[in-house]
Amino acid sequence: MSREHVDFLLNEEKISIKDLDTNTTVLNYLRNNHELTGTKEGCASGDCGACTAVVGELKENKISYKSINTCITFLYSLHGKQLITVEHIQKNKLHPVQQSMIDSDGSQCGFCTPGIIMSMYNMYENKIKPTEENIDKFLSGNLCRCTGYLPIKNAIKNMYSYKSNKFSKSKVIRLLKSIKKTDIVIKKNDSKFFIHYNLNSLIKDYQKISNGHLLVGGTDLALEVTKKRKDLKNIFYLGSNKDLNYVKNKNNNLHIGSATPINDILPILENIYPTFAKMFERYGSEQIRNTASLGGNIGSASPIGDSLPVLIALNSKIVIQGKVKKTLLLDNYFLSYRKTKLKPNEIIKEIIIPIYKKNILKCYKISKRIDDDISSVFMAINARIEKNIIKEIKIVCGGLAETPKIAEKAQKFLLNKIFNEENINEAKKIIKKEFDPIDDMRASKNYRTKISQNLLERFLNENNKIKSTLY
Ligand SMILES: Cc1cc2nc3c(=O)[nH]c(=O)nc-3n(C[C@H](O)[C@H](O)[C@H](O)COP(=O)(O)OP(=O)(O)OC[C@H]3O[C@@H](n4cnc5c(N)ncnc54)[C@H](O)[C@@H]3O)c2cc1C
Ligand code: FES
Ligand code: FES
Repeated sequence: MSREHVDFLLNEEKISIKDLDTNTTVLNYLRNNHELTGTKEGCASGDCGACTAVVGELKENKISYKSINTCITFLYSLHGKQLITVEHIQKNKLHPVQQSMIDSDGSQCGFCTPGIIMSMYNMYENKIKPTEENIDKFLSGNLCRCTGYLPIKNAIKNMYSYKSNKFSKSKVIRLLKSIKKTDIVIKKNDSKFFIHYNLNSLIKDYQKISNGHLLVGGTDLALEVTKKRKDLKNIFYLGSNKDLNYVKNKNNNLHIGSATPINDILPILENIYPTFAKMFERYGSEQIRNTASLGGNIGSASPIGDSLPVLIALNSKIVIQGKVKKTLLLDNYFLSYRKTKLKPNEIIKEIIIPIYKKNILKCYKISKRIDDDISSVFMAINARIEKNIIKEIKIVCGGLAETPKIAEKAQKFLLNKIFNEENINEAKKIIKKEFDPIDDMRASKNYRTKISQNLLERFLNENNKIKSTLY
């Protein structure tokens, strides 16, 4: 029997909700239902960070914190979690991150400030060292248009020098423990919001509804509501489903539950495919990586989804679960623009990535900005080179066709050839003819083509230890 309400902590107060629209975002709820207007709306699409708040979740008796974009987080997905807003972090006196921001003159108009404060609070609670690299990473999802980032960075560098107000977390832990993690269905007007904790009950309910929407981080799906003003009926939230949240290294394969947030995958991926993990540092922002999933990236089937060329280059498979379970090579999954082999009432359960110990993996993302930008062109290369002969090679491109696509002719040409300039130059001519990319506001057709050629050259240069400063 499913429960019909969602419980979560708004700061330290336990809240029970069931009567709100199933499309309600956390941001709108805070501002409209609680007048907690410290959390701002800038873009409503996850790009500016003005709406940043922090979510706490109980993991092994401790609270684990992560920053989120409240503008694209559906309210009902908060079940069993603590939502911390900017109004809450001061206790009798300002929180160290707030005091440091003031003392470093890190704010002018102040519109971005609450969001930046919450990103700093996320760093503070996670005890992140304020190195240049970490600051850039944790601030990648926060825009400031007037202060300039130097004073803000100084505020972060100094924040640990302030004395923190010690306050007990035992009350929050006790309250979080009191919230039952059992299946939930919210019914509002002609729509439902489902939360399942295991695969069987999810599949059972998902089979009964023909127009359901699967939701994990919502970093694509929520934009349908906030930008396209769609009314999404029947949402199935997968983010709390234990059967879809895991990373396992089994028999030389990495098995990743489709709803596992990118940031939870990275600690294991870093040891297996460091270049793939490094690429994820440029995937959206910290807020996006905290909630976005591989299942969602594959589910969106965008021709510029960054994980897709890499997964295909690594000969990854996906496990699809509907009435029956099947396993499919990702190469064969994308049919045409955003069309895939996934049938209604099926879900992606798992991604299986083979671990190649002798291969080189390159993940080249070309975009206008380093952080928080989507690709103009992406190229992933998985190759085995022995005695300068290319013994194995798979080249997969994003942004050059209506789906992520294998450069079949170029890779066929390079196979068993000497890895030298002459052969790469020939492959550059082939790849030019192999794709017919589109012109759009992100990049022209000629630019995309040129980049695909240049990336082959870069692959050679890197092999020859010619240093590249490009990203
Ligand atoms: C500010 C911003 C920056 C971004 N930057 C990048 C970037 O750098 N690179 C990039 O590739 N993308 C980027 N994205 C897009 C998005 O973050 C990714 O595609 C992300 O991986 C989606 O995951 P999600 O869990 O949020 O998916 P959701 O939004 O929850 O779902 C996306 C789609 O997949 C479907 N889906 C979800 N789970 C499953 C499943 N298990 N089985 C079948 N279908 C499923 C959903 O129904 C929906 O149609 C960005 C988005 C934003 C808002
Ligand atoms: S309002 Fe801009 S990221 Fe949410
Ligand atoms: S202080 Fe004005 S946008 Fe940052």
